[in-house]
Amino acid sequence: IAPVITIDGPSGAGKGTLCKAMAEALQWHLLDSGAIYRVLALAALHHQVDIASEEALVPIAAHLDVRFVSNNGEMEVILEGEDVSGAIRTQDVSNTASKVAAFPRVREALLRRQRGFRDFPGLIADGRDMGTVVFPDAPVKIFLDASSEERANRRMLQLQEKGFNVNFERLLSEIKERDERDRNRSIAPLVPADDALVLDSTTMSIEQVIEIALKYARE
Ligand code: CDP
Repeated sequence: IAPVITIDGPSGAGKGTLCKAMAEALQWHLLDSGAIYRVLALAALHHQVDIASEEALVPIAAHLDVRFVSNNGEMEVILEGEDVSGAIRTQDVSNTASKVAAFPRVREALLRRQRGFRDFPGLIADGRDMGTVVFPDAPVKIFLDASSEERANRRMLQLQEKGFNVNFERLLSEIKERDERDRNRSIAPLVPADDALVLDSTTMSIEQVIEIALKYARE
């Protein structure tokens, strides 16, 4: 069975960047589990499904036609044959994703699919419950955190780089609201696994985080 490194944590802590760097350094596969919840949210919005209905969402989750395709080092997310890499990053999809992710049977329907990404030489798994639920037997688990202000700031810079004009206060309140939902849900709440290394990256550069994580993983 292939090894897994799980990287969990709240929105904007830098998991995406860290996971990408680790997958490149180790030449391992990468699972962006958040993208699966985002694609589910987008599919539900597209098909005008009631996003408050667990019953309506479960079949969509079970039959989700999602693929990840690597294109010049960038991961493209494909839903029903269409490149939705940009469409799944909107604020609306982020909020909807965290709402649909709170339903136990929706999470259950996505479990096997996520485990299917485990393959040799190894997998870097990015999410909220990678170390607690999806890959509890992973030999290396990291929980990456940072203050909500710092996370909102990073997210703002990231969006500005892509040419989006964003309001810091609005971003901060949306991040706090989503975190609260992710932390307080009844299933797979956002908490570090008992055996995870908890890294607070508030005052660290991403280079420092990558260095510490790689060193820890190689020990
Ligand atoms: O990019 P960001 O860190 O803001 O979010 P994401 O990792 O793409 O995840 C979007 C949403 O999906 C989160 O707010 C969670 O509610 C949900 N999610 C989850 O419940 N479990 C995961 N393993 C990954 C994401």
